[in-house]
Amino acid sequence: MLIAQLTDLHVRPHGVLANRVVDTNAMLERALKHVAALDPVPDAVIMSGDLTDMGLAEEYAILADLIRRHLKMPAYLIPGNHDRRETMRQGLSGLRGIADDPNFIQYTVDDFPLRLVMLDSVVPGAGHGELCAARLSFLERALAAAPKKPTVVVLHHPPITCGIAMMDEINLHTADAFAAVIAKHPQVERVLCGHHHRPIVARFAGTLVQVAPSVAHQVTLDLKPDAEGSLIMEPPAYLLHRWTPENGLVSHQAYVGTYPGPYPFT
Ligand SMILES: [Fe+2]
Repeated sequence: MLIAQLTDLHVRPHGVLANRVVDTNAMLERALKHVAALDPVPDAVIMSGDLTDMGLAEEYAILADLIRRHLKMPAYLIPGNHDRRETMRQGLSGLRGIADDPNFIQYTVDDFPLRLVMLDSVVPGAGHGELCAARLSFLERALAAAPKKPTVVVLHHPPITCGIAMMDEINLHTADAFAAVIAKHPQVERVLCGHHHRPIVARFAGTLVQVAPSVAHQVTLDLKPDAEGSLIMEPPAYLLHRWTPENGLVSHQAYVGTYPGPYPFT
């Protein structure tokens, strides 16, 4: 099966740029068209948070309309720190899983050979993420329910330190408790995140953490400990995860845009 992972869309009201410079709505539409034109077409799309920039009802309405117009396959979404649970629930109520949990936006998807556990790591009003006792218990129960089925766990905040100071301050602050649950469940093929607006991979709790780049702006790659943090218009991209029983989970990075070629090898 094929899953496209898009993240950090940061949708804004019509005519408003994110951070005064990024036309995130146009960039999302280009990414959705890119995914829809893939051959073979993905079986599912996941969006790993920061769906909108401010959590406004108008932003979710624009996102819902873009998904409806461009995606024929199911879309599975979780919130990021820029989202607001209540407006997200209202604006995206037609999407699978959004209303499953009364307190959080988290759920499991069992329809495919690869199981999805979609987790809510949001702390309202804060940039960083946490998994409280209730969410850790949901994760434990979800993983214990299907110990033999290959699974990916999706949450917005990466549970790792990556060396970009601004992002490390607002990563998943309860990473140890999260790791303790993940380490008990070897069927977890990957932990998939967003938030950092860069492609990053790291070993974690016996599996891999993979952070997807944004379909909009990226975070500048600056590993100086005192770096201030900024955004940069590097090429927008998303991840294409290919699952087969023979080869497991293999992930490609797909760039949105048009580039010279393809040319035949001579
Ligand atoms: Fe973001």
